[in-house]
This record gives sequence, structure tokens and C-alpha cells, in this order.
Amino acid sequence: MKEWQVQMDGRYWLPEELKEGKNLQFPTNLWIRNNSISLNWIMRVPERFCLFLNKCLPKLKVSGRESFQSYCNAQYRWAQTSYALHSKYLDLEGKIVLDAGCGMGGKTTFYAEKGCKLIIGIDIAENSLESARAFAKEKQIQNVEFIHGSLDSMPFESDKFDVIIMNDAIEHISRPILIKALEECKRVIKPGGRICLEFPPWSSFDASHLYDYINIPWCQLFFSQKTLINVMKSMNPNQEVVGISSLIEQYQELNRITIKEFKGIVKKLRFNVVAIDLNMVFNLKFFKYIPILNKYWTRRVVGVLSKPGLITPQF
Ligand SMILES: C[S@@+](CC[C@H](N)C(=O)[O-])C[C@H]1O[C@@H](n2cnc3c(N)ncnc32)[C@H](O)[C@@H]1O
Repeated sequence: MKEWQVQMDGRYWLPEELKEGKNLQFPTNLWIRNNSISLNWIMRVPERFCLFLNKCLPKLKVSGRESFQSYCNAQYRWAQTSYALHSKYLDLEGKIVLDAGCGMGGKTTFYAEKGCKLIIGIDIAENSLESARAFAKEKQIQNVEFIHGSLDSMPFESDKFDVIIMNDAIEHISRPILIKALEECKRVIKPGGRICLEFPPWSSFDASHLYDYINIPWCQLFFSQKTLINVMKSMNPNQEVVGISSLIEQYQELNRITIKEFKGIVKKLRFNVVAIDLNMVFNLKFFKYIPILNKYWTRRVVGVLSKPGLITPQF
């Protein structure tokens, strides 16, 4: 077994001497086809079932995947929905704002048009920032800057920002630096300033982020990571997706944060909670009050946090 190279999709590719017929002693649950040996049919039932279910469900068209520019435009459109989640807690007029984990900056540019004095987008992915800068230039936006950096060690003085926006970023921050990143947000926000965030918790129907290919709601809970990766690879082994380098890598890097865990971090870091709300699928608000269902029916966790201290900015 150890001489064979195991592929991520569960297939075992043979070294040359085995192809020539030497030492062919296979475990009984393997079978040979076209120079490759596949795990037997029974062991691949979850993958087959996942593929079957996926074919039965309507395919989701994810907009903005055609080019970097179209992705920036899509982000710019989606910003309206993100903004609406926080708008009653947020007045950007004249504020110094940080867009933490801004990605390709479509949303940053949208926020810049809401009257900020200055908005800075920061992201760890440098190539995304190039698109972000080009998009802001195309829109002729002056009050925006993009900076390369990681949220766990930001190049800003303490108490700099009136507002921090963090859309769909928390679940992407790698687990070892997650708490440090939120601590940094607390450091760079002014006392009384607001951190407005939203993210899909791991129990959310679309938390896998695999919807370009696997459109089974809650697939990350029904299927193992190995099954989902094998299915993804069987659908398109070299998928390059605009907006992210690879869906498989992105899926593996998700930190799988839950609602309970998020609330625990907020408590641990002693933020003042202005609001933590659950945005429900189909906006079925009464589901919030039904135990268990509220966890799985949550589409986004919407949080507005602030740093204790004198309230300086006006909202
Ligand atoms: C799904 S994108 C969200 C982009 C944008 N905020 C939006 O809502 O469209 C998540 C972003 O978080 C960024 N990110 C993940 N970890 C980070 C870190 N440690 N520091 C800065 N950015 C990070 C990723 O590079 C990615 O661009």
C-alpha cells in the first residue's frame, strides 16, 4: 500500500513495476480499471449520493465569476444587502472607516460613496487589492485606500477608526489568529466606535462556500470533508474561480465558526454588544425563537460591537 501514490479523489495510481504486473497483491476491497485502482463501489456511496443529489437540485448561478472586474461589480451590488443589515446602527458621514478583509473592494467602494471621510480596505490577498484599486479608480473614488496586511497585526495606531466593517470575513480568518484579529479590531477602533460584521455560521445552509459546484444546502454537515473534496475534484479538477484561488482551498481554510463560539469570543474580548442578531433564511424571523431550528435556519450572524469607553463618534 505505502508504495502507491494516493490521489485526493480516492484513486490509487500504480508505480511502473506494479503496472507491469509485479507484486500485485491488492486488498480485496480494491479493483483495477485503466491502470488505476478505485476504492470499491461501496466505499464511494457517499460521493455517488452527493453527486446524485446535486444533479437533482437546481444549479445556482453565482454572479461575478466571469472576470475580476465583474466580481468587483458584483461585490458593489451585494454591498447594498450588507449595508442594509447594519444601516440602522451606522452613519458613515464624515467617518474614518476600516473595511477589514475587503477582498476585491467592490463593497469598500460602495461604502466610500456613503460619505466617509476616508475608508481603508485591508486584506491579506495582495492580488485582490490590485483589482480593488483599479475598480475604485474606475469609479473615480478619492476617499478610499487599500492596504495589504493581516488582521491580526494591522499597521494602524490605536483608536484610529470610527467604524470597522467586516463583511463575510470572520469565517475566513485562519483559526490560530481569529481571536487576535478581533482583538486588533478592538485596538484600532475608537472607544464608542462600532464594529459592524456579518458572516455565515457553520450551521448555515451555504456555509460550505462550495455553491458554485455543490448546491446541496447544509452539505458541509451532511457529508465529510473528504467526500466533498472528492466530489469537487470529480466535477472539475482544476477549478480556478474568479474571486478566490480555488474553491477547494477556500473550503479547507474556513474556520467553521459557530454562533455560540462567536458569542463566546465577544464575551471573552469584553466588547460592548450593541446588537447581535440572526438573519434568517427567507427572512422567517419567528424561526429565531425556535431552539435548534434557529441555529440551522440562520443565514447570517449580524453583529454590532463597540469598544467600552467614552462615546466619541456620533451614530
Ligand atoms: C469572502 S471575502 C470577503 C470580501 C468582502 N469583505 C466582501 O464582503 O465581499 C473574505 C476575505 O477575507 C480575507 N482574509 C482572510 N483572512 C485574512 C486575514 N488574516 N487578514 C486580512 N484579510 C483576510 C480574504 O483574503 C478574503 O478576501
